[in-house]
Amino acid sequence: MKCVLFIDSGIGGLTTLSETIKHLPSLNFIYFADDEYAPYGNKSILQLQTRITKIIDMFINKINMVVLACNTATACTIDYIRKKYHIPIVGTEPAIKMANNPKHKILLLATPATVSNRRIINLAKDCQSKVKFLALPNFATLVDDYYLNDSKIAYKKIINLIKDIGNISKHYSHIVLGCTHYIHFKSIFKQFASNCVLDGNYGVYKRINGLINSDNLSLYPTNIFCCSSNNKNVIKKYQKIFTETLAKI
Ligand code: DGL
Repeated sequence: MKCVLFIDSGIGGLTTLSETIKHLPSLNFIYFADDEYAPYGNKSILQLQTRITKIIDMFINKINMVVLACNTATACTIDYIRKKYHIPIVGTEPAIKMANNPKHKILLLATPATVSNRRIINLAKDCQSKVKFLALPNFATLVDDYYLNDSKIAYKKIINLIKDIGNISKHYSHIVLGCTHYIHFKSIFKQFASNCVLDGNYGVYKRINGLINSDNLSLYPTNIFCCSSNNKNVIKKYQKIFTETLAKI
């Protein structure tokens, strides 16, 4: 029996995990939230390469695939990680290609580390649509704060930010949610922005589905949630948020 390891800085990757489990309920998985080191969006490439390596090394004997359920970790580390490990490494990239058309104007929302990343800049250059990057430095932290600490202040700030983005987005045909944390608020984005709102989670599931083998599937699948802070209450919350997110899909 082998697990697929999902990694994110916090609760964002739970959206990727939920989309995957909706289609593959018998998948053995470990979800690792790096809450002690969050947010990833303000870290350097070197810091994230070192950190992701450390996380994969902790689980290497239990897994046969890694999913970077995080756009930032993917942009900053995937090439490096793929060279280092001989197991499939699946990344999460902003779903720009889904809207690829010269008639489209895309607003890409992502962390500062993602929008300044060479890999993502090239992804946008290869696209026929016009792509405008908008870095949201605190959004992911607010999402974690709202979900994990029930922070009303965080919720208010998130809604105000989405309203502002809704106003900006009038000039665009598509909004791409380029951070897995933002996907928790996809329905609210749709409410305030008249555009088509896209994310890449279904594409990640498809990729995982093409790479798993019988070792990854069990009648009574292993579902492990853990985090770098090792806080038992936080781990329970991750489990609960996962169940709620799965029910919403
Ligand atoms: N969820 C992550 C992403 O998709 C990163 C959020 C953060 O830690 O800054 O980029």
